[in-house]
Amino acid sequence: MSTAKKEYKRVTVKSLTEMKARGEKISMLTAYDYTMAKIVDGAGIDVILVGDSASNVMAGHETTLPITLDQMIYHASSVVRAINRALVVVDLPFGSYQSDPKEALRSAIRIMKESGGHSIKLEGGKEVKESIKRILNAGIPVMGHLGLTPQSIYKFGTYTVRAKEEEEAQKLKEDALMLQKAGCFALVLEKVPAKLAQEVAASLTIPVIGIGAGAGVDGQVLVTHDMVGMTHEFNPRFLRRYLDLHTEMTKAFEQYSTDVKNQSFPNEDEQY
Ligand code: KIV
Repeated sequence: MSTAKKEYKRVTVKSLTEMKARGEKISMLTAYDYTMAKIVDGAGIDVILVGDSASNVMAGHETTLPITLDQMIYHASSVVRAINRALVVVDLPFGSYQSDPKEALRSAIRIMKESGGHSIKLEGGKEVKESIKRILNAGIPVMGHLGLTPQSIYKFGTYTVRAKEEEEAQKLKEDALMLQKAGCFALVLEKVPAKLAQEVAASLTIPVIGIGAGAGVDGQVLVTHDMVGMTHEFNPRFLRRYLDLHTEMTKAFEQYSTDVKNQSFPNEDEQY
């Protein structure tokens, strides 16, 4: 379905609701630093997620658990300095909101104050309902995240598709409705069956952004480093690679090394 695209000078949480109402799909990508965020924003991507996937992509950890609130603030403030148009969503990292709602609010306030991000995202359903309400009461927009929630990887045991069984699918539907009722402005659905994701998106007025959740949702998110092929060990079925930067960059680095060693770099024009 093609729909009229409205030009937004700045994307806000309200713009996203309008996009869903109009049937315009929402584009979202991750960024963790100034240079990447500038390219992503300049390309007209609607939402930039400073994801806790920075823990894997930037720091090389096996999971998202080790990244700290201070590190998320550092990444988010670098991204915010690059942005002219996109809405910036910042992940609350593991351990910064699970213990109690007051701690969750303190963490969200630190993100907003110290990074200049526009909203926060956190994982979970009814377990984090009170924290979400408290953050929203402080005027901070919240994006939910259901399905595969990587901060709970040790509870799940694997990164496989979630909510294939009826009981888990039912809980996901209830949680999604709860998040909307609580006041979340949008919801990420990660790695769930496309049919379930479509049903959830159709039942909500807030936008549902999918990753590995099929085409029947209101928008898509990917990890930028994966979609441009900088990472190459991670090959889930849902990932479309738009570039093979790993190969291109490796070739460039090898050529540079050769040029330095055989003294063809720098040449006459590349010196003072
Ligand atoms: O941290 C992240 O990059 C995410 C996306 C996978 C949605 O949460």
